[in-house]
Amino acid sequence: MISLFQQKWKNTFEEKAFTANERCGKLTEEGYQAVARRMLTPDRYYHSLCVAKQARYLAQRYECQENDAYLAGLLHDICKDMPTDAQLQTILKSDIILSGVILSQPAVWHGLAASVFIQTELNIKKTQIIDAIRYHTTGRANMTLLDRVLYLADLTSEDRDYPDVDNMRKLADISLDRAMKEALKFIVADLAHRNQPIVEDTWEAYNEYIVLSDDTTETRRDERRDVI
Ligand SMILES: [Fe+2]
Ligand SMILES: [Fe+2]
Repeated sequence: MISLFQQKWKNTFEEKAFTANERCGKLTEEGYQAVARRMLTPDRYYHSLCVAKQARYLAQRYECQENDAYLAGLLHDICKDMPTDAQLQTILKSDIILSGVILSQPAVWHGLAASVFIQTELNIKKTQIIDAIRYHTTGRANMTLLDRVLYLADLTSEDRDYPDVDNMRKLADISLDRAMKEALKFIVADLAHRNQPIVEDTWEAYNEYIVLSDDTTETRRDERRDVI
């Protein structure tokens, strides 16, 4: 059963609603906001704006590239309102290899699809943005600074209201790595509790962070700063 919004989205896509200017890969912030507004439900668009704002805040705090962080936040869920079969088709057009576990987990497809979509439809070529969007749901081993900024911005944006969100915001303010460790502990436990498989990238991220000491703070942050 396809929702009215999904039908509307499908029609919009089939009519190739993106202009040549929108496909140039160098839109202004307002230009990308207009694209996101067209692709998303109002609630999801609001979430995307909140994540973009939080990503910029964390980028300032941890000396990450602010404009990249804002754009990654704005576009991270750009495919989430697409029907899941369209998300899968988008991924299959790329060279991404899907494991059996990922194939069984449609909830993680939208990040992979978005990483392809922003390249093919919006001509965004910056690897750091593409990767941060691709792994924003699963995490991965050796997450870059922008990966972590986006992952945590998605969990701590002002529209989030889950019970532990204030603690997660405080942790993200103190140390990205401590916040990543707590987030991954919660997510792996939650998936196990719900009898859900855990995709390989999430396991790898969890295994990397779980051995970090809770004293890990600013030093590690500086050691792992991306080369921009
Ligand atoms: Fe997402
Ligand atoms: Fe999100």
